[in-house]
Amino acid sequence: EYGHDFEFPLPIPPIKEPLTSHTDYKTGTKIDFYEVKIREFKKRLFPDLGEATLVGYDGMAPGPTFRIKKGTESVVRFVNEYGRKSAVHLHGSYSRAPFDGWAEDTIEPGQYKDYYYPNKQDGRTLWYHDHAMGITALNVYSGQAGFYIIEDPEMEAKLDLPQGKYDIPLMFQSHFYDASGAITDMTGERNSTFGDTFSVNGQILPYLDVEPRKYRFRFLNAAASRTFNFTLVEKDWEGPLPMYVVGSDSGFTSHPVETLSLVQAMAERWEVIIDFSNYRDKELTLKSSRTFADEDYEGTGNVLQFRVGRRVTSKQGNGPLPPKLIDLQLPTDHEKIDQRWNFTRTGVAPNFTWLINNVGFSDVYNRVLRNVPRGTIEKWILHGGGGWSHPIHIHLVDFQIVSRTAVEPRRNGTAPGRSGVTPYEAAALKDVSAVGQNEEVTVLAKYAPWAGTYMFHCHNLIHEDHEMMAAFNVTRLPE
Ligand code: C2O
Ligand code: CU
Repeated sequence: EYGHDFEFPLPIPPIKEPLTSHTDYKTGTKIDFYEVKIREFKKRLFPDLGEATLVGYDGMAPGPTFRIKKGTESVVRFVNEYGRKSAVHLHGSYSRAPFDGWAEDTIEPGQYKDYYYPNKQDGRTLWYHDHAMGITALNVYSGQAGFYIIEDPEMEAKLDLPQGKYDIPLMFQSHFYDASGAITDMTGERNSTFGDTFSVNGQILPYLDVEPRKYRFRFLNAAASRTFNFTLVEKDWEGPLPMYVVGSDSGFTSHPVETLSLVQAMAERWEVIIDFSNYRDKELTLKSSRTFADEDYEGTGNVLQFRVGRRVTSKQGNGPLPPKLIDLQLPTDHEKIDQRWNFTRTGVAPNFTWLINNVGFSDVYNRVLRNVPRGTIEKWILHGGGGWSHPIHIHLVDFQIVSRTAVEPRRNGTAPGRSGVTPYEAAALKDVSAVGQNEEVTVLAKYAPWAGTYMFHCHNLIHEDHEMMAAFNVTRLPE
């Protein structure tokens, strides 16, 4: 019996401050040094139950939020003070391969690793999370995830979208809890851990006091296996209210995209403007409904309640949305090489294994599935057969979702796939794409800027841990 919807306020993770700063006397480049400790901590998640044991960055979940100015480099020392290995991936950053959180490049208990991040990409919402071989699901589920935002002040000034206290990161997760109030053990699970209880920024079903004006929310799905399908409603029996998508995994969309619902698979980021100005003294609810073959449970529906006040304290970023935001840097060159990846399940319940073109990540002799000369544009066809959806993430690059087609169900009784790219996907560059059951999604990317071996995988963390991960090798330019 949970029954405490919207009882507690939304927590907002604190901003991470650097330990020291250094400016290179020749180049003028600024480097900030940070230190983050991976630690166990206890937290009461249900007011009437006991404490849950979690593991998080700086002993909190979500971890602290990094807000870094574009062009300022950073070195982050992750110190593993917990008894289980970790590997840290900054998702959405084109980090050099040695700092990309390769699943086997783990920080053992008692050790640390310094990660260097260039932060030269356009402003965007990144997130850092665990990526350790075979235990990513467990580590992220128990708290190892946080926001890392690259800010571009020039761009922000130009577009004048809501900033400061009107720019709020929202990390969505979904867990199962036991009767003591602890998160349940999901280590034996080889299918999916959908979770029946949603949380935002670590708080189960919170509320947020807002002013009657525009806000910018940075949505991140950090759940192990659940895809959200968001709607915003005032009354359940009335239709949903519009939301305006202005950003994606890779920064601003080309223009604000009005939508009444928003599908968000694991690891995707969507930046959403919500205008509360017509709802003084009212309550709006962000809800999520079932998507793909995810399981729903009684009470999975509510996510977050907005309590709209009466007073607007600042007019910053409260004007009409600009009709255009940016010119997307689409990969448009002509040499496009087609490559097809099949994401499939093998094995007999409950011992499922998930493979990419029949290869699993522990198959070390075969797992580098592709060599791509640096700078090449490739067209990858992501095919998700069967009754499962897979959010596919390609490290290093931003891609364009060119098409999505429904394919013939290979298993009887599985729902047909969607066809078409959603309007917000079409206005975006991405690093994750939801590949629904019986769908084929074509993504186009330029494999750059660095040479190196990078992972690509399903971001259903259970699938990822059970082998649905492989690598591509960006090779040096041919002589
Ligand atoms: Cu969000 Cu390979 O990770
Ligand atoms: Cu998957």
